[in-house]
Amino acid sequence: MATFKTQVVSDRQDGAISLAVEELARGNLVAIPTETVYGLAADATELCAVQHIYTVKGRPSNNPLICHVADIDMAQKYVVVSPLATRVMQFFWPGPLTLVLPTRPGFAIAAPVSAGLDTLAVRCPGSETARQIISELGRPIAAPSANPSGKLSPTSADDVLQGLGGRIPLIIDGGDTPVGIESTIIGIVDEKITLLRPGSVTADDITAAVHTPFFDRDSQQITAPGQLESHYAPSSHVRLNATEQEADEVLIGFGEIEGVLNLSPSSNLEEAAHNLFKFIRKADKRNPNCIAIAPIPNQGVGIAINDRLRRAAAPRNQ
Ligand code: TXA
Ligand code: MG
Repeated sequence: MATFKTQVVSDRQDGAISLAVEELARGNLVAIPTETVYGLAADATELCAVQHIYTVKGRPSNNPLICHVADIDMAQKYVVVSPLATRVMQFFWPGPLTLVLPTRPGFAIAAPVSAGLDTLAVRCPGSETARQIISELGRPIAAPSANPSGKLSPTSADDVLQGLGGRIPLIIDGGDTPVGIESTIIGIVDEKITLLRPGSVTADDITAAVHTPFFDRDSQQITAPGQLESHYAPSSHVRLNATEQEADEVLIGFGEIEGVLNLSPSSNLEEAAHNLFKFIRKADKRNPNCIAIAPIPNQGVGIAINDRLRRAAAPRNQ
C-alpha cells in the first residue's frame, strides 16, 4: 500500500476546500469532518478510489458505504426518492440522518459503494465544510468513518491521524465533531420506515416529523450488512452498567456516578454522545485491563449510545 506524509490542514485555512477537492478529483482519499464523526472520503463515481477505501480501512467488502450528497437534488440523480423519503429529507437535511433507498437504473455510483445491493445509503451532512467539498467536486462522495475497520470512529483530526496517518495524503481538520456518534440510518420501502442504526435523530423524532410509525426491525425488508456485533472496539475490555470502579479499571461515569471521566455530570444525553468515543479513547490510553462505563438511560439519544456501548463490549472477532 502507498505511504504518504499525511498533511493536516484546517478547514478555516484559505484554499483548504480546493485542496481537498483536487485530491479527490485525482482519485485520492481525504479525511473530512462531518457533524457526526470524521469520514474517509473518495469520489463515489470512481471505482479505484472507492476500492481504495476498503483497502485502507481493512473493511470487509460486503459492508456498503454511505454516499454523501450536497442536497436533495444530487440524491435524486442516484436513488428513487419516494414522497415519504422527500418529506424526511426536507425535514432533517442537512443533518445526521442517512436514508437507504432503491437505486435508479444505470446509476453512476461505483459498484462497491453499495456492495452489490440494489439500494444506496444517502446522507446530506450538516457540516458546511463537507457540503462545500461535495458541491465543489460536483459529485457525491463515498465516506465511511475514518478509522481502521472495527475500531472507534474518530471525532477529531488527531484521532484520524493516529488511526490512518501515513495511509492517506490529507486530513481536513474541522475541530471536534459536535454530535460525536455516527448518523441514524433508516430504510424506506413501500413507504414504511425501518430503523437500521440508531443515532442522534431518534425514531420518535422522525415519527413526530412525518407522522409515520416505524416498522418492527424483525420484519424489515432490508438489512444493514456489516453491522457486525463486535465494533467500536478499544484495546481494553469494556464492562457496562458499572456503578463502581474495580481494580485495574478506569470508570467512565454519567450523572451522579462520578468516574475518572464523566460523560455528562448533568445527565445530558447529547453531551454524553458528544463525549462518548472521545472519553473511551482517553480511558484506553491509560491502558487499563478494563474500561467500566456507568449505566446510560435507554431513551432519546441514549438508545444510540447503548447500541455503540453494546458493540464495544461484545466479544471480539479476532
Ligand atoms: O455519520 C456517519 O454516518 C458517518 C459519517 C462519516 O458520515 N459514516 C459512517 O459510515 O458511519 P460507516 O461506513 O462507518 O457506516 C455505514 C453503515 C454500514 O455499516 C452499513 O451497515 C450501512 O451504513 N449501509 C450503507 N449502505 C447500505 C445499504 N445500501 N443498505 C443497508 N445498509 C447500508
Ligand atoms: Mg464505521
